[in-house]
Amino acid sequence: MQKSNNLNNRQLLVLYGSQTGYAQDIAERIERQARRRLFKTRLFSMDSYDRTNLINEELVIFICSTTGQGDEPDNMRKFWKFLLRKNLPNDILNQLKFAVFGLGDSSYVRYNWPAKKLFKRLIQLGAQSLLPRGEGDDQHYLGVDGTLDPWLEELWKILMEKYPLLPNTEVIPDDVLLYPSIYRKISSYRIQFIDHNLDSDKVKPIKSDHLIAHLVKNTRITAYDHFQDVRHIELDISDFNESDANFNPGDVAILFPKNLSEEVDEFLELLNLSDTADDTFILLPNDEKDREVPPGLDSILTLRKLVENYLDISSTPRRSFFEFLSFFTTDEDHTEKLREFCSAEGQDDLYAYNQRVRRTIIEVLQDFSSAKIPLEYILDMFPKLQPRQFSISSSMKVHPGKIHLTVAIVNYKTRLVKPRTGVCTKWLSGLEPECCTIPVQITRGTMKLPTSISTPIILIGPGTGISVMRAFLQERVSEGATDNYLFFGCRKQDKDYYYKEEWEQYVKDGQLKVFVAFSRDQDRKIYVQDILKENAQLVWEIVHERNGFVYVSGRADKMPIDVMNAFKSIFISEGAMTEEEAEKYMTLIGRTGRYQQEVW
Ligand code: 2AM
Repeated sequence: MQKSNNLNNRQLLVLYGSQTGYAQDIAERIERQARRRLFKTRLFSMDSYDRTNLINEELVIFICSTTGQGDEPDNMRKFWKFLLRKNLPNDILNQLKFAVFGLGDSSYVRYNWPAKKLFKRLIQLGAQSLLPRGEGDDQHYLGVDGTLDPWLEELWKILMEKYPLLPNTEVIPDDVLLYPSIYRKISSYRIQFIDHNLDSDKVKPIKSDHLIAHLVKNTRITAYDHFQDVRHIELDISDFNESDANFNPGDVAILFPKNLSEEVDEFLELLNLSDTADDTFILLPNDEKDREVPPGLDSILTLRKLVENYLDISSTPRRSFFEFLSFFTTDEDHTEKLREFCSAEGQDDLYAYNQRVRRTIIEVLQDFSSAKIPLEYILDMFPKLQPRQFSISSSMKVHPGKIHLTVAIVNYKTRLVKPRTGVCTKWLSGLEPECCTIPVQITRGTMKLPTSISTPIILIGPGTGISVMRAFLQERVSEGATDNYLFFGCRKQDKDYYYKEEWEQYVKDGQLKVFVAFSRDQDRKIYVQDILKENAQLVWEIVHERNGFVYVSGRADKMPIDVMNAFKSIFISEGAMTEEEAEKYMTLIGRTGRYQQEVW
């Protein structure tokens, strides 16, 4: 039987699955909005929530992003697996009212897949949806906010009708800072400064789950006059124990970057916190029951360490940052401008100021220099520095105790004068070999080689998409495979043809056939899909007649779709298929793992 909703029990749980922190940011924003509407709120990542309690929940808002090829973010995997259990009765969640908002990018085939699956499964388990599933799309001209704002408006309308305020209470307006005297503390954590001499029992060394690799090579592999700086990086992992150092071709290295010390100093200065930067403190959750101190922050910290290792200070701020900032500016013009940015009408202006030019948090703080941000809010306001993933570009069989990476240093221009950079690659590019250590983890990739070395493989990896292909080739060649076909694409033969000598050696030894599309060595652009079509007969023979495997890796733009279309056109021309048949054939080889891709 269905339980009736107790209107006095305005309990709202927000659960998120977030890979880069964006879904978490939105979940936190929803929780703040709920508190303003006087809901009793709790907030967790799906995996840190006690999922066995879900059968007792009445109202849950789910926010989840999409990662990889339509996969769930890491911090909702266990929760999702739990929901998929076959032995869950179909009415087990019939007490639950829920809403789901997903984040994704509509240029991917499995757009918003986790949110779609979650929504469907919750309905299957008897839960009732409060409103249609929301779909945030990176491709929307206003980004995710373009669909999130109207969805949230609808959500609150429905919730406030279903769960009206109790008599004599009212919503806390948006322009009132939620502070303890008004309602309750809204910052998630308190900061307690400690004196080592007095509190030595609290002093725990910073613990790290990361393994430490030694940087042994950091070499530019593009010509110095080429627009892009691409590095061949070698890490020594011979200190790792055997199981940690074990990886397969296709696996991925996760690197944990740091902010540069100049930027840390500048940030501390802007926040007027330079004087206390080295004082030690511990972080305590404001509501111990409902929140955890994030892993790695449960020990003695200094502000400098926190900023250096945990806060992403050179990212483009999210909207919630402007919301917070508007409370802390002391100059009326600043406050007014920030309020405008946060209003529905101000969204185009905010986009032009912020996302379009990829303004950084430091630059925004410079513009709104009157802001006095209380220390306890910094973890709420500043996003967490995210680890970055790179395909490993070497085989363990050929380079035991080492990991090779092929990394493009991110650097591009926007309408702002200062070039934009990527946190992790900027940090990496400045590291000197032989004197630096790098925190690393290794994780399984999605692409796998065929089990037999006699199965032919076609590798398509333009640009740094070559990285994983190099690992595949090293492994295959070391095992004696000779049926290897590499399609590489770059701009110019003498500028960015990565690992040319290695391919030439394989070719000489009869272990590889290589086809290269130099896009800018002639008037007409030539891309990998063009040279695939030029070799249609060979490609058809490998894929169809010899049951070969195809691997595609590279930037997600248009390349993966263009390459897929090239294959379809080859199936039509060489296999005498109709368009529909070619489409079906493509789906078939995808499903059976004979066409694998990893794009970013
Ligand atoms: P371009 O920069 O000259 O346009 C690696 O980045 C290579 O991939 C470059 O030669 C680049 O060419 C090329 N490239 C760009 N867009 C592509 C697409 N849609 N399909 C295949 N290759 C592409």
